[in-house]
Amino acid sequence: MSDENKSFNTCTMKKAKFITFEGIDGAGKSTHIPFVVGLLEAAGHRVVCTREPGGTELGEQLRALLLHQSMHLETEALLMFAARREHIDKVIQPGLACGDWVVSDRFTDASFAYQGGGRKLAIAKLAVLEQWVHPALQPDLTLLFDVPLEVARRRLNAAREPDKFEQEQSEFFADTRAEYLRRAAEFPQRIKVINSDRPIAAIQDELRQIIGQLSG
Ligand SMILES: Nc1ncnc2c1ncn2[C@@H]1O[C@H](COP(=O)(O)OP(=O)(O)OP(=O)(O)O)[C@@H](O)[C@H]1O
Ligand SMILES: [Mg+2]
Repeated sequence: MSDENKSFNTCTMKKAKFITFEGIDGAGKSTHIPFVVGLLEAAGHRVVCTREPGGTELGEQLRALLLHQSMHLETEALLMFAARREHIDKVIQPGLACGDWVVSDRFTDASFAYQGGGRKLAIAKLAVLEQWVHPALQPDLTLLFDVPLEVARRRLNAAREPDKFEQEQSEFFADTRAEYLRRAAEFPQRIKVINSDRPIAAIQDELRQIIGQLSG
């Protein structure tokens, strides 16, 4: 059997898609990921569900450092992209190559929003890292969950103890949210802004519509 036929047998021919979930802490990403994964599976897709920073053994070790240890801003950005490089190589690309849909809780938009918008690292430096680490890969769809800061803060306070990022002041989150929205305006085809300040059922109706268009 030729190599080409072998790969035809092990991988589906349908083009798998890469979907990312974004939004400030407490915006509702984790709440809606299982729902979207359920929709995709019901449509007959195999789904790999993953997250950033993390998604690989090394990436999860870097995540622990990133979320709990203070460090130079550029170190933080470099470690985020180092974890991402590993994640793309070990999880995202192999999944997509085999026809699995990949759903990731955060990806590169989060670096632009948090390290760029929130912490003020030059966007141009982040763009260089993006070009270096994944020059050809972009999500097919990014769901940006958007809520006013006080709503996100109230929800998080009710839910858990804050990590390093969650302890930031509201100005940080306002700038992070603004950079997310700026990117949504820059890439309107890819990034769909979901008003997350609504009942979960209303958000699910919108997600059903968006995913139906993508996977139908
Ligand atoms: N539409 C909603 N209405 C009311 N509560 C919500 C809504 N969406 C999420 N929540 C609640 O808000 C809290 C934060 O939501 P969630 O964990 O999904 O946010 P997240 O975006 O994953 O945050 P993080 O980035 O910190 O992981 C949870 O307790 C969740 O149950
Ligand atoms: Mg979450």
